[in-house]
Amino acid sequence: MRYGVWRRRRVSVGSILIVCALCAGMGLLMLNLRQVDPPTSPDFPMQIHNSDSESESGGEVGVEDEPESKSKRKSNSCATVEEMGKDFKGGFWEESLRVRKLIQHHFDLNGASRVRNLPPEQFCQHGFVMGKASEAGFGNEMYKILNGAALSILLNRSLIIGQTRGKFPFGDYISYSNVSFTMREIKHLWRLNKCVKKYGRQLIMRTDDFEKPTQTNVLCSDWRKWKQPIIWFQGTNDAVAAQFFLKNIHPEMRNAASILFGKPEVLHSRPNVFGELMRVLITPSEDVEDAVNWVLSGVEPDISLHMRMLMNKSIRAAQAALNCIRKAKQNLGKSPRPRVVIVSDTPSLVKSITPNISKFAEVIHFDYELFKGNISDSRKGLHSLDFRMKDWGPAPRWVAFVDFFLASHAKYAVVSGAHRRVGTTYAQLIAALAAANNLGTYIHIVFG
Ligand SMILES: *[C@@H]1O[C@H](CO)[C@@H](O)[C@H](O)[C@H]1NC(C)=O
Ligand SMILES: *[C@@H]1O[C@H](CO)[C@@H](O)[C@H](O)[C@H]1NC(C)=O
Ligand SMILES: *[C@@H]1O[C@H](CO)[C@@H](O)[C@H](O)[C@H]1NC(C)=O
Ligand SMILES: *[C@@H]1O[C@H](CO)[C@@H](O)[C@H](O)[C@H]1NC(C)=O
Ligand SMILES: *[C@@H]1O[C@H](CO)[C@@H](O)[C@H](O)[C@H]1NC(C)=O
Repeated sequence: MRYGVWRRRRVSVGSILIVCALCAGMGLLMLNLRQVDPPTSPDFPMQIHNSDSESESGGEVGVEDEPESKSKRKSNSCATVEEMGKDFKGGFWEESLRVRKLIQHHFDLNGASRVRNLPPEQFCQHGFVMGKASEAGFGNEMYKILNGAALSILLNRSLIIGQTRGKFPFGDYISYSNVSFTMREIKHLWRLNKCVKKYGRQLIMRTDDFEKPTQTNVLCSDWRKWKQPIIWFQGTNDAVAAQFFLKNIHPEMRNAASILFGKPEVLHSRPNVFGELMRVLITPSEDVEDAVNWVLSGVEPDISLHMRMLMNKSIRAAQAALNCIRKAKQNLGKSPRPRVVIVSDTPSLVKSITPNISKFAEVIHFDYELFKGNISDSRKGLHSLDFRMKDWGPAPRWVAFVDFFLASHAKYAVVSGAHRRVGTTYAQLIAALAAANNLGTYIHIVFG
């Protein structure tokens, strides 16, 4: 078995971004400070108000001041793909398994089923972390919840997943496991247990805004000492947010962070934290899962190709993607004709690249127009004017969720390409979830 890793690296082919991640490993591991991309354009702001479903992966925020990540960049800037992978040999699997157990233990202790039954005195002293997302770009919004979950582990608090008008974020497409609380339940239990009257504990939430570098306490405060019942770490829409605690000035905070994220100075100790968290927190809704199963018809794909092209047809992007898939196939070895699932917002690209991939692999693609299920029935003609509807090209939004869970079935590799710098968090999370779904299988990542 070989384990490699995916270091993300932008390779500019004109304005096209192609990232190949061979193998489910993807570790998205990446999800770590080192992964921060070179600041190709420091002028890329954090919030991009255009119709892209994802803004940047967000690595730029505040990270520019991190001397360590700078030096890493330098030392790595000329490494070949193979060299980059070497650091990750071994370790990834064990570390992710360790984190899987840690997460499990955390939710055994701090999950809703135990905490809601605590005696009033203990319940009222208990702490919570809010994970709250809107329904903007899925990748970035999901990261907000995952960062909340990560922080709850760092601080030994329970997780609340915020709802809007009684609905979970993306609740039509995603089901949330029962390990977290809703705010409504916390308020109810607070009254029931008489936390205010009997124990003098007001239900107060302390917020910290990660998007405001001059105000956030992510580096300089010992959050474990915060007394407020609820903490909300806002604006954490990427993989690096919670990992900033690895750089906190308080050794106890750094230590708590490295128990979860691994030691920043040891590359091969980086576990797939976000993938493991997602695996515990979310599953596709029944309707979405029906569609996924319909496409797969019982056979798992080997490789996922994610191409977010914003309706642009680019020959070079297609060529780069083909190279990556070939490379993934080589690393895969045995299987003579791997199954490649393509997810894309650009139907014309799917059409044009399919014959080329079909020469050496079996191509799977979710054609939502052919799918007859509850989700397609109930949503026909339900096209709101929300600009987000255009996120996934001409397809209705639910298709992006089917594609997300479909692509996360990849056993060996996730290859991602995007027109300009979009779509990275969606693809990162696909790879992270695929890696968690396949923990223990072969893991390797490559960039083209
Ligand atoms: C975490 O909280 C639980 C109670 O909820 C407590 O038993 C345990 O000792 C705490 N662990 C740490 C490391 O603080
Ligand atoms: C929570 O979900 C798990 C798995 O779906 C299930 O086994 C368990 O019984 C549930 N617990 C509660 C309290 O509903
Ligand atoms: C393709 O991308 C270019 C920018 O690189 C953009 O100006 C153009 O509108 C895009 N084409 C389509 C059909 O969206
Ligand atoms: C796909 O195959 C066709 C026909 O062989 C070829 O003309 C085209 O350049 C190929 N596309 C890419 C992106 O390699
Ligand atoms: C579709 O919805 C109907 C009515 O709500 C339900 O009985 C049926 O089981 C659903 N079908 C699937 C495949 O979920």
